[in-house]
Amino acid sequence: MWLKFNNAFTGEWLQYGQLFTNLQESLFGRLFLLIMTIIPCVLLLHYMVIGPKRFAHDGPQVYFFDLFSRIIHWIAAVTFSFMVLTGLMVIFSKPLGGGALIMGGRSVHIASGLLFTVAAIPMFIIWLKDMLPVGYDIKWMFIMGGYLSKEKMPVPAGKFNAGQKMWFWLATLGGFVLAYSGYVLWSFQGPTDTLRLMVIIHNFLAAALSAMFLVHLYMSLFAIAGSLGSMISGYKPQEEVAILHSRFKS
Ligand code: HEM
Repeated sequence: MWLKFNNAFTGEWLQYGQLFTNLQESLFGRLFLLIMTIIPCVLLLHYMVIGPKRFAHDGPQVYFFDLFSRIIHWIAAVTFSFMVLTGLMVIFSKPLGGGALIMGGRSVHIASGLLFTVAAIPMFIIWLKDMLPVGYDIKWMFIMGGYLSKEKMPVPAGKFNAGQKMWFWLATLGGFVLAYSGYVLWSFQGPTDTLRLMVIIHNFLAAALSAMFLVHLYMSLFAIAGSLGSMISGYKPQEEVAILHSRFKS
């Protein structure tokens, strides 16, 4: 059934396979390999030298993420994670042996992309107001949000800091461009030059987003101890809010 659905968009797309293989093997394979190795090393170094920020989780709590935003976030998170994994499978299809595994990965990639786009629209709308840039974001960037220091000094940020805002804009607007270029590639209609351009846009943007995704994972899972809990329960420790979101008003 999936094959029928897919073929309605793509027709005899297999004949163009070589074009993708060449580009992916030469340029994009190296780019993704670089991102997937260098960024984790830099993040590991940060963890070893600076370490995670820890806040008292047994004290008073602040309600930070409502249920709807948490549900939408987790749909985006799961689908995007699948997109990264299966996108890498397509890029590295040759060393992985090609065949049914990669074709399966490609189908999961497309299905996750469709679901991600559906989740990214409400996510964009509900967080837009808090993600608009403000003056003190520049100050936050100058001090790198305090993440290069072990001290717990209050940093200038409201509900979201400048780094989180960059991630939001790249993930949502960039996500929509990825979805559009992915759709054009999937449908495989139009002049070859347009398709080539779409491959280039799709892959460069995917590389940038994957890099930011790794950073987001590191921040949420390791750099701020217990941060994951806030996206599950909706609550953050008051101490964390006072330090990392010192301008936050509920
Ligand atoms: C498995 C992957 C993911 C995990 C574990 C994760 C985890 C989290 C956590 C714990 C927070 C709360 C951070 C805080 O303490 O303020 C958060 C926030 C957020 N997440 Fe994710 N996330 C994931 C994937 C994604 C994806 C794919 C997107 C983009 C579409 C995304 C977009 C956001 C945004 C915009 C925020 C608010 C700003 C920020 O904290 O960066 N997340 N995420």
